[in-house]
Amino acid sequence: MSTQGRPKGEYRSAQHEGARVTPPGRAEGEYRSAQHEGKPLNAPFETRPLAPALGAEVLGVSLAGGVSDALFEGIYQAFLRYQVLLFPPQALSPADQVRFARQFGEVQVHVMQQYHADGHPELYRLSNLDAHGRPSGKHPDRGTLAWHTDGSWSRVTGQATVIYGEVVPEIGGETHFCDMYSAYERLSPAWKARIAGMRALHNLDFSRNRRHGEDPMTAEQRRAKPPVDHPVARVHPETGRTCIYLGDHAESIVGMPYDEGRALIEELNALAIHADATYEHRWTRGELLLWDNRCVLHRATEFDTATQARVVRRCTVLGEVPQAA
Ligand SMILES: [Fe+2]
Repeated sequence: MSTQGRPKGEYRSAQHEGARVTPPGRAEGEYRSAQHEGKPLNAPFETRPLAPALGAEVLGVSLAGGVSDALFEGIYQAFLRYQVLLFPPQALSPADQVRFARQFGEVQVHVMQQYHADGHPELYRLSNLDAHGRPSGKHPDRGTLAWHTDGSWSRVTGQATVIYGEVVPEIGGETHFCDMYSAYERLSPAWKARIAGMRALHNLDFSRNRRHGEDPMTAEQRRAKPPVDHPVARVHPETGRTCIYLGDHAESIVGMPYDEGRALIEELNALAIHADATYEHRWTRGELLLWDNRCVLHRATEFDTATQARVVRRCTVLGEVPQAA
């Protein structure tokens, strides 16, 4: 499947209405059965799993210069099955990164304009370098250090994130991923019953300001992104599987006293992370990572911002309005 040649308006309207989007030519549930039955991946490349629970390395694929429909179809299948894909080190221009991200769907233009990079408002650059290209000692976004899912603070939430490592530190600055399908499946029946029908308010201003007094959102940015509520147990629109959809942007629980909701979110966020369902990626310069925000939490790890350089550029593709399980 490709979004190339697909009428954009048709795709977007289905997403914005919160409908389950089954890409043209693909039967709903197809990927669920592929995942569950371990059918071979029909893709023009080899993959190598990165961890038992999630993640695969895509071998020998170059994204520069554009991705054909046939190649993209294979990448998309692998994306749904493995949740996190790693592409080998390669030179990839900002324009080619945005073009690749657009094959997944509409790309987010982030409300925090100060991070836009390279003349592409779709790119969000995280860099600790100063104007002279030296490590500044300042972390560009400490919110990324907490487990979260991109764009959960919007009504239409993040689908894929496509991130490219321009400069990577020798130590630290890793990216970790945890599988939220198995996080849900491991919950006790009592927890599953407790969160059935429950909705959480996600709020970018909360998650940024709790850690970022130095760089708060402006009043205009806050107005543009008011808190939005999403189901805590979410069904993935393409695989049909249920996952926990929470993370660090979740501030409170709808209909519950604030402190009680905070405590529940903290407890469930901690319960959702399991070492054996996690893949920890140590970057090599020029790698590209792609992940499915609908069923994965991720975080970055600390690095010495005064001595190490880290520059990554990110594109987040918009998905749909989350549907309750
Ligand atoms: Fe993120």
